[in-house]
Amino acid sequence: MNPKKFIVAITGASGGIYGLRLISALMAFPADVFVLISSSGRAVLTHETDFSGGQITEYFEKKSIASHEGARILEIDVADFFAPLASGSFRHDGMVVAPCSMNTLAAIACGRTDNLIHRAADVCLKEKRTLILLPRESPLSLIHLKNMVRAAEAGAVILPPSPGFYTHPATIADLLDSVVARVLDHLDLDHELIARWGGKTTC
Ligand SMILES: Cc1cc2nc3c(=O)[nH]c(=O)nc-3n(C[C@H](O)[C@H](O)[C@H](O)COP(=O)(O)O)c2cc1C
Repeated sequence: MNPKKFIVAITGASGGIYGLRLISALMAFPADVFVLISSSGRAVLTHETDFSGGQITEYFEKKSIASHEGARILEIDVADFFAPLASGSFRHDGMVVAPCSMNTLAAIACGRTDNLIHRAADVCLKEKRTLILLPRESPLSLIHLKNMVRAAEAGAVILPPSPGFYTHPATIADLLDSVVARVLDHLDLDHELIARWGGKTTC
């Protein structure tokens, strides 16, 4: 069976740690995880987390996260429009922008493709593939809200990184997992990240 293919994009909104947690959660599956990080995403990630720049693959190697033997991280330069992700002929199982800045949201909502994140998202919408956006800003202007509506009308899933508290999160990791679990649900992946409402543990 071919490994699943996912695209994870990290943009310059606060909360790149959601993207990092999502990537490590996807490493539990036999999957190719294509990672795109905008230049602002890289700067904010370096400011907010223990990521100190360089290749994201090296970052995860140093973390020694338990991963499936069939899992691979492939970082792609956001300026590389020759990458397979830029084409509708590249088939994959879903793209997640975590977090999604208002800049990237605006680009996606109006069909601009200034970098490979925008282009890959645009391709998802035209090819009717799963596109999940985790928009992060507060408060939201009418422009932000309208851009979310436009993206949702075009087929994107708007999944704000707003953790639930009904699972009684005790740590930042619990808060992250409360959001990442919903992302995995929308990628149709079985997982046990959080206890489900109405069930003993999960699924
Ligand atoms: C520390 C820091 C935090 C930021 N947080 C946000 C945010 O939460 N949401 C947002 O839309 N932009 C935020 N920005 C601004 C974006 O980084 C900026 O708009 C950038 O152009 C986004 O580019 P990108 O969409 O290509 O990643 C932040 C910037 C910095 C330096």
